Amino acid sequence: MIKAVRGTRDLLPPDTALWNFVESAARDVFRAYNFQEIRTPIFESTELFARGVGEETDIVSKEMFTWEDRGRAESEKGNSLTLRPENTAGVVRAYIEHKLWDHGLNKLYYIGPQFRRERPQKGRYRQFYQIGAEAIGPASAGSESPARDAEVLEMLATLLDRLGIAGWNLELNSVGCLNDRAAFNDALRKALEPVVGKMCTDCQRRAVTNPLRVFDCKVPADQPIIDTLPRISQFLDEACHTHFEAVKEILTKVGVPFTLNDRLVRGLDYYTRTAFEFTHGALGAQNAILGGGRYDGLSESLGGPAAPGIGFAIGEDRIVMSLQESSTAESMLTKPDVYLAPLGAGMNAQAARLARELRRHDIVVDLGDETFRLKKSFETATKAGAKYILIVGENEVKADAFALKNLATGEQVSVPRADLPNKIRE
Ligand code: HAM
Repeated sequence: MIKAVRGTRDLLPPDTALWNFVESAARDVFRAYNFQEIRTPIFESTELFARGVGEETDIVSKEMFTWEDRGRAESEKGNSLTLRPENTAGVVRAYIEHKLWDHGLNKLYYIGPQFRRERPQKGRYRQFYQIGAEAIGPASAGSESPARDAEVLEMLATLLDRLGIAGWNLELNSVGCLNDRAAFNDALRKALEPVVGKMCTDCQRRAVTNPLRVFDCKVPADQPIIDTLPRISQFLDEACHTHFEAVKEILTKVGVPFTLNDRLVRGLDYYTRTAFEFTHGALGAQNAILGGGRYDGLSESLGGPAAPGIGFAIGEDRIVMSLQESSTAESMLTKPDVYLAPLGAGMNAQAARLARELRRHDIVVDLGDETFRLKKSFETATKAGAKYILIVGENEVKADAFALKNLATGEQVSVPRADLPNKIRE
């Protein structure tokens, strides 16, 4: 038997009803904040992620699904391609490629699968789904303002509340800008020098190539050492400090609670200034339901114009998991309003005609088959969770009135064809 590949899974009804509920709530909230949808390709040039996300990150150095193109054309041959491990780099590439700033398009959202070769476990998959948004644009359009950071964070709080997810915690930090990074890296290297020999091999490499990434380390034995290291928050320049203070002030004024976490650096290299994660207690080890931050230099590093931006991605798998704690997907699943039971030869065509009429009235119809005995039709209708069963037999067709039975109460009435939509909707 062929099974789904490790780390991938089928999303089945009734759970898919929950997925749709989350996606449509997100679309509603995005609309209220004037975000528009973008859909970028599922694979991109490997170089996009190497340059955008950063060579030294776990994502790029260990987790990408990468292959060499076997295209025949000279321009394709040997190109390195990668299934997108995240969507921010793709959105910024598209922003540059289509000069979206010329069209005033500076608030974009996406919903779709991402791919990372991580060790699969509860809440962690190799194909997982993100709902994300990016507010990006020329500084003249206000994209550098702390008001954008606060707006994006407030929008997230609104969405989580709308979904009925209680007990989330917003962890907030500022990772500064390039100015601060140089001084911080020096201090970090100095602090690491005497201790790095006791740390894991990844950290020993990071200490040389990109010391900030030491904070991504998950090895338990390294944590007490990491706790003693200097924090980026101690190195913020005046502008970054002011920016962070403004973000916190707006959040406080609009009533979005947050906790400061100066160890939070996020596992992607493009972040500057505001960085954040929303965590949820009920999820266990994989407790980050979403993450994001500002990435003011990303556009330039991908060859585009200056375009400060801030965004986030929600782990949809994890949001759905936290909803499963409280709501039942079963109750969100669409059930047929009526099950049509054609009774006897020639009745399939009659039932099809009637189904077509009812569906035009937005009634959810399930269809049986004229070869079914009445008992089997009743069983099938009940199993499908239909509210009514409607018998379509020769007598009914002749009279142009049909036997409509309420499957819950057992009440049965004969209803003229023209009255059926209203009667069923009742
Ligand atoms: P990220 O923190 O790598 O950020 O991913 C965001 C969220 O995706 C995580 O908080 C988690 O909920 C979910 N996630 C990540 N990996 C997995 C996995 N293997 N299985 C299930 N869920 C997962 C980004 O991807 C950035 N692009 C976010 C961003 C947008 N920053 C600025 N704009």
